[in-house]
Formats: sequence, C-alpha cells, structure tokens
Amino acid sequence: MDLGFTGKVALVTGAGSQIGFGKETALLLAKEGCEAVAVTDIVMEDVEMTAAAIKKLGTKSIALKADITNAAEVGGMVKSVIDEFGRIDILCNVAGGILHKDNTPIDQQDGAMWEKQMKLNLFGTMNVCKAVVPQMRAQKCGVIVNIGSGSTHQYQMGVGMYAMSKYAMDLFTKQLAMGEAGAGIRVNCVAPGPAPTKFGAVFREGLPPLTPEEEQENREKFAKLMPLGRIATAGDIANATAFLASDRTSFVTGQVFHVSGGSVM
Ligand SMILES: NC(=O)c1ccc[n+]([C@@H]2O[C@H](COP(=O)([O-])OP(=O)(O)OC[C@H]3O[C@@H](n4cnc5c(N)ncnc54)[C@H](O)[C@@H]3O)[C@@H](O)[C@H]2O)c1
Repeated sequence: MDLGFTGKVALVTGAGSQIGFGKETALLLAKEGCEAVAVTDIVMEDVEMTAAAIKKLGTKSIALKADITNAAEVGGMVKSVIDEFGRIDILCNVAGGILHKDNTPIDQQDGAMWEKQMKLNLFGTMNVCKAVVPQMRAQKCGVIVNIGSGSTHQYQMGVGMYAMSKYAMDLFTKQLAMGEAGAGIRVNCVAPGPAPTKFGAVFREGLPPLTPEEEQENREKFAKLMPLGRIATAGDIANATAFLASDRTSFVTGQVFHVSGGSVM
C-alpha cells in the first residue's frame, strides 16, 4: 500500500531511545518514502544515533535537542527544522513517559508530581503542537499523531496519574482536531498497550537491573492481560502511527486508536 509519503517532511519527538516507539516510527517514515525525517529528544547523543540510522537509509535527517516542557527550546527546534527542510507535513508527538512509581492512596499523593507529570505529557505535547501548527496552517495541510496510552482504560495497571495525563492528551487531540480541521490539519492519537521500551525504567529506579529471566517473567505477566496473548512491539506502534500519518487515513481526525492487543475495546 502506498502511504503517500513521497516528498513529505516529518518531525518525530522522543526519537532518542534506541528501543523506543519514536526511533521505530522515524525509521518507518523514512523507509516508506518521506523525503526528510527530523528527530528530536532531550538526550542529544541518542537522537544523533537515530538521525545517523535514517541517513543510512538514504533519507535526509537532522538531530535536534529539545526538552518538550520548555516552550522556548521547542520553538527553536521547530524553527531549525523549517529552516533546514522548508516545511513540516507530519508531526509525531512521541516524547513523554511515566514519572511516578505506582498507584498511591489520595492522602499520600504528591501535588508536585501531578504537576510534573501533566507538564511532561500534556503541556509538552501542547508546546510542540503550538510551535508546528502555524507552519501547517501556512501550508494548508498537515498531520499530527500524538502518542497516548492504553492505561487510560486499564485501571489494573496502577499508573493513575500517568493515565490521567494521557487521558488529557486524548481530549487535547480531539480539541485540536476540531480547531484545525478547517485549516486542513488532521490530528489523531495512537494509544499503545505495554511494550518493552525504556518506558518502564522508572519502576526499577534504585533497583538492580532485571535478569533476562525476570524480564521474560514480566513480559509474560503483562501478556496474560492482553486478549491477543502478547505485549506490543515498537513496530506495532510505529505501523499504527504511520498509517494515521498517511494519506490512506485522509478522512480520519480526532480519533484515539488503541493498539493494545484487545485489552481496550
Ligand atoms: N512502552 C510502553 O509500554 C508505553 C505504553 C503506552 C504509552 N507509551 C508512551 O509512548 C511514548 C514513547 O515511549 P517509549 O515506550 O518509546 O519509551 P522510551 O522511554 O523508550 O522513549 C521515550 C523517549 O522520550 C524522551 N523524552 C522523555 N522526556 C522528554 C522531554 N521532556 N523532552 C524530550 N524528550 C523526552 C526520552 O529521552 C526517550 O528517548 C511515551 O509518550 C509513553 O508514555 C509507552
């Protein structure tokens, strides 16, 4: 299936993690024909590796450092992409994550943590959209894919505050889709189920690394919660993201697409 990416310029945030959704998505957009894929992350050395992998495929790329919670840094990063490639057709908002360990009773909740978590997932995504949308409006077209989370509907996962920040992103997706539809901009959200990226690291902070056997046990535990019997791969999420970024979904906007093995229906 031709995804219609020929000649397009994409920007992928959170593309530094070498086992994460962002890198996988950036590489897929390049393989499927984008002319240029700009990548950004808070960790420069990592995102430079991703840009090098994209260039190896024969696609133009640029690696840029930006903390999505810092609007000024984000503004500079987006300007650099436009200066380099002249336009932005596709924005994939992958940067984000979980900043707290588990479900805590309300009387022990930390307001500062709520603020930090919202700032990363909701405000961070808003900062990037705010910087990119004027360019898409000027082009009279553009596609945004946000990465939400299946945890918004998986109450047994024990990640309450994180799930709330991602639910807010679902609503932000719909609000932005409605606001910009007349400008020719589509906005959708991919909501992944659990996948073995660096994402879960916060749960292990201060503990020794898992042995391969423990890692396998963990995956099997999550797989049992998935009707399709396995956890997600980064490829599952990249495929769904590329599909929603493509011309094949040109009549789809304001949707939250769960890619979570049937655990959210
Ligand atoms: N892996 C999962 O199980 C899972 C499930 C549902 C949703 N998600 C979501 O998928 C997205 C990608 O996560 P992943 O699983 O690839 O994890 P990951 O940790 O492997 O990658 C996340 C990337 O985001 C970057 N990042 C973090 N904070 C940033 C900031 N302030 N500014 C810029 N970059 C920043 C990190 O450096 C990292 O490269 C996240 O939004 C996460 O919440 C992950």
